[in-house]
Amino acid sequence: MTTHRIALIPGDGIGREVLPAARAVLDAVGARHGVRFGYDEFDWSCARYLDQGAMMPADGLDRVRGHDAILLGAVGEPGVPDHVSLWGLLIPLRRGFAQYVNLRPIRVFEGLDSPLRGAGTVDLVVVRENVEGEYSEIGGRLNRGFPTEMAVQEAVFTRAGVTRVLDYAFELAARRRGRLTSATKSNGIVHTLPFWDELVTEWAARYPDVGWDSEHIDALCAKMVLEPGRFDVIVGSNLFGDILSDLAAAVAGGIGIAPAANLNPEREFPSMFEPVHGSAPDIAGKGVANPIGAIWCAAMMLDHLGHPEAAAEVEGAIATLLAAGGPRTPDLGGTGTTVSFTRALLE
Ligand code: NAI
Ligand code: MG
Repeated sequence: MTTHRIALIPGDGIGREVLPAARAVLDAVGARHGVRFGYDEFDWSCARYLDQGAMMPADGLDRVRGHDAILLGAVGEPGVPDHVSLWGLLIPLRRGFAQYVNLRPIRVFEGLDSPLRGAGTVDLVVVRENVEGEYSEIGGRLNRGFPTEMAVQEAVFTRAGVTRVLDYAFELAARRRGRLTSATKSNGIVHTLPFWDELVTEWAARYPDVGWDSEHIDALCAKMVLEPGRFDVIVGSNLFGDILSDLAAAVAGGIGIAPAANLNPEREFPSMFEPVHGSAPDIAGKGVANPIGAIWCAAMMLDHLGHPEAAAEVEGAIATLLAAGGPRTPDLGGTGTTVSFTRALLE
C-alpha cells in the first residue's frame, strides 16, 4: 500500500464545495489501486486575509514543502482585490516550488456541447510557462498624479526558463500525437519573442519525431475558434498561455470542467493541482458548482504521483458518465448538484 500526503487548500467560495468531491474520488479510486491518501487541510484564503491580514502564514511554504502534492480549490472574495489572492498565495507557491510548467488539458467530451458548432474532436494540452515572462515584478510607477504619470513593466525571458518548458512540451507532444505549436508574437514584440522563436527552433532539432509550427498569438486565437481539432500540444509564455487556455476551456464547453496542474517536473518540490475556475461568488453556497474541473485535477495528480491507470480510470469515468447522459450541473445544462454528480461518478 502506497501512502501519499496531500495538502488540501479549499480556499474560498465554490473551492470549498468542489474539493470534497475530488477527495471522495481520490479515496474511492485509491482503494481500487492500493493507494492511500492522508490529508492535511489549510484555511489559506481571502477569508483568512480579511480575518488575519494575510492569505497564508509567513512560513506557509515550509508547512507544505514536505507534502507529495497540493490540491487547491479556488481563491477570491468580493472586496479582496484579485492581485492580493494571486500575489499572496498562488504566485508564491508556483515560484517558491519552481512549478514552472502550467499544464491545461482540454477535451470536448461526448455528450457535452461546445458553444462552437461543429467543433468536432478536440483533445489538446496548453503548456504555459509559469514563473517568468510577462508576469515579472520588474518595473515601476513614476510621477503618480501628474500629467507625466507613467508605468513600466519588463518581461523576462531566460534561456534556462524557456528551454526547460520547451523540453516538457516537446516530450509531451512526442508521447501524444507528435504535433507542437508555439505561440509567439515576434512581429510586434521585437526582443523577447524573437528570442523565444530562436530557442523553439533550436530545441525542435532535438525532437526530430515531433512536427512543429509557430503561430502568432492573434492568429492562433482565431484558429482555436475555427479549427480547435487541429491542435495537439500548444506551448506559450506565461501571458499567452494564460489567455489561450481560458479560450480553449470555453471552446470545450465551459470553465467548470477545466483542470490545471502547476508542475515541478524535477519533483524537488510538491506540484499543485487546481481547477481553472475561480471561487464563483455568484453560485457559491448553492451546492451546484460543477466538480469536474476539481475531479480531473485529482486525476492529473494521480498521474503525477505515478498512478497513470488510476488517473485514466477517473478521466474515463467522467467521459462515460457524460456520454451516457448522466446527471450534470446547471452550467452544463442539467439540474444536478455537486453531490449528485459526484455520487453518480463514484458509482
Ligand atoms: P469564476 O471562474 O469564479 O466564475 C466565472 C463564471 O463561471 C461564473 O458565472 C461562475 O458561476 C461560473 N463558474 C465557474 N466555475 C464554475 C463551476 N465549477 N461550476 C459552475 N459554474 C462555474 O471567475 P470570476 O467570476 O471572474 O472570479 C470570481 C473570483 O474568483 C474572483 O475573486 C477571482 O479573482 C477569483 N479567481 C480565482 C482563480 C483561482 O483561484 N485560481 C481563478 C479565477 C478567478
Ligand atoms: Mg487565467
